[in-house]
Amino acid sequence: MREDILEIMITSDEIAEKTSELGKLISHDYAGKNPLLVCILKGSSVFMADLLRTIDIECNIDFMCVSSYGSATESSGMVKIIKDLDTNIQDRHVIIVEDILDSGVTLFFLLELLKDRKPKSLDVCTLLSKPTRRIREVPVKYKGMDIEDEFVVGYGLDYNEKYRNLKDVCILKPDIYAK
Ligand code: IMP
Ligand code: MG
Repeated sequence: MREDILEIMITSDEIAEKTSELGKLISHDYAGKNPLLVCILKGSSVFMADLLRTIDIECNIDFMCVSSYGSATESSGMVKIIKDLDTNIQDRHVIIVEDILDSGVTLFFLLELLKDRKPKSLDVCTLLSKPTRRIREVPVKYKGMDIEDEFVVGYGLDYNEKYRNLKDVCILKPDIYAK
């Protein structure tokens, strides 16, 4: 697997540092509010697991799985719910936990969908963001870091379901995409 990697973009140490900063902010902002952290499967599972353990206030978690149609590296704008929440979010403080914000299409759709369920508040926490790729404007309350327009894998992020188990965020060799 390592031989497919061109370079490491963000090391696991840098990720851990950012994640802990985000966890501190969330712990401060939501103290006494019992927020519901919503992990967007599958990519956000690794970030969620780490973020969760940097939060030291009462909170709940739930999972949602959506798929945006398209190729392996481009979103098409169509989003389908594969698994919905188990939790009723009416009057709850909800934080959507995302691995990466790219075109914004997925999160835009999700925010519209969840807003209709009348949460008390609805915000986004994303580890990574590619600002130059945005098609839909999405308000982000918590952001780990902006990155260049590069397709990345690792730390939960995949290319054709591979590489999620890399501990760093990495750039693949261009010939991997060409295969
Ligand atoms: P968006 O709807 O275009 O913002 O895409 C969001 C989703 O696409 C993310 O939750 C990821 O699952 C996936 N995605 C976007 N960029 C990347 C990337 O660079 N590597 C891996 N997955 C990505
Ligand atoms: Mg994905």
